[in-house]
Amino acid sequence: MKTYLVTGGAGFIGSNFVLYMLKKYNDVKIVNLDKLTYAGNLENLKDVQENPKHIFVQGDICDKELVTELFDKYDIDYVVNFAAESHVDRSIKEPEIFASTNVLGTVNLLNCAKNAWERENGWKDGVRYHQVSTDEVYGSLGDTGYFMETTPLDPHSPYSSSKAGADFMVKAYFDTFNMPVTITRCSNNYGPYHFPEKLIPLLINNCLNHKDLPVYGDGLNIRDWLYVEDHCKAIDMVVRDGRVGEVYNVGGHNERTNIQIVKTVIKHIHDNVDETVTEDLIKYVEDRKGHDRRYGIAPDKIKEELGWYPETTFEVGIVKTIEWYLENRQWMENVTSGEYQKYYEKMYTV
Ligand SMILES: NC(=O)c1ccc[n+]([C@@H]2O[C@H](COP(=O)([O-])OP(=O)(O)OC[C@H]3O[C@@H](n4cnc5c(N)ncnc54)[C@H](O)[C@@H]3O)[C@@H](O)[C@H]2O)c1
Repeated sequence: MKTYLVTGGAGFIGSNFVLYMLKKYNDVKIVNLDKLTYAGNLENLKDVQENPKHIFVQGDICDKELVTELFDKYDIDYVVNFAAESHVDRSIKEPEIFASTNVLGTVNLLNCAKNAWERENGWKDGVRYHQVSTDEVYGSLGDTGYFMETTPLDPHSPYSSSKAGADFMVKAYFDTFNMPVTITRCSNNYGPYHFPEKLIPLLINNCLNHKDLPVYGDGLNIRDWLYVEDHCKAIDMVVRDGRVGEVYNVGGHNERTNIQIVKTVIKHIHDNVDETVTEDLIKYVEDRKGHDRRYGIAPDKIKEELGWYPETTFEVGIVKTIEWYLENRQWMENVTSGEYQKYYEKMYTV
């Protein structure tokens, strides 16, 4: 039995990871530490509500006493740190909380893991700290080329800068203490349980409600889209078999301009749900400050070393995603109304 401390496991990617792992393995226990900020939603975890291998703890990754208690109580083998403030636009308005959660929270987790795992002659057997990072730490690309693991970090937004700061602290724990760590840097995820402040669920929600579809600048910023389940699979592989001290880039081979995404969502909803939804809903708005032009990832290292590749093409993934939101309209309503808090009562606690 392996015990994971998953942080941020009530958020978008974290909850997908918890569900993926508990479905895939019988010999995995997950202690899920999440502060339940506006982005954390226990309704995402209702399928594992009765599962004794999932222990939910509401709390802050910056809380040294609590994290220490979790290490003592549950004999943690792996930490997978998803917990973060994750929205670039919010980071432009409120940078402090990004520095606090993303940098100081990571340092607290590293430190508590070190205290629990360090032995006189090295480290407890089989332990690993894994940091979930982002391709945004590399900055912005021109029309050609890809981010490699060796690309120097050049973050621009307070969000990406805080994630880069966290990555450097993880590296420091490897370089200084030889702590067994790995980092993955992934491109934009999409899929079920995505909070509707992010592009794809926002578009779907707004289309269904006949609201404007805001598009930054000229709409030609490019992102590389990764289906969330492919990301979960990559993290699982890196935690188990990735080389200690290494960074692995995870990308979807699915580069699209923002306006292409907008038009794809409109077309699917127009053709399948509501023919009154048209491109007339598109509204170009003032560009985001410091908006990175293009992100692109070459996931060659993870493919060569671990055999991972993105199984879900964008054409398949986007239809699956839109269909999921159509089938889970109540989820969207609950998330946007704050109703989801009622699920809290039913979850396991320490
Ligand atoms: N979504 C993407 O496309 C993407 C891409 C690259 C990297 N990432 C990284 O993946 C991770 C997860 O992203 P996401 O999109 O699922 O984010 P999210 O915003 O949906 O979820 C974040 C979760 O962390 C929790 N949290 C926030 N502060 C906390 C704290 N102090 N203590 C404990 N829990 C806290 C929130 O309650 C929430 O459940 C983040 O580290 C993010 O930087 C995301």
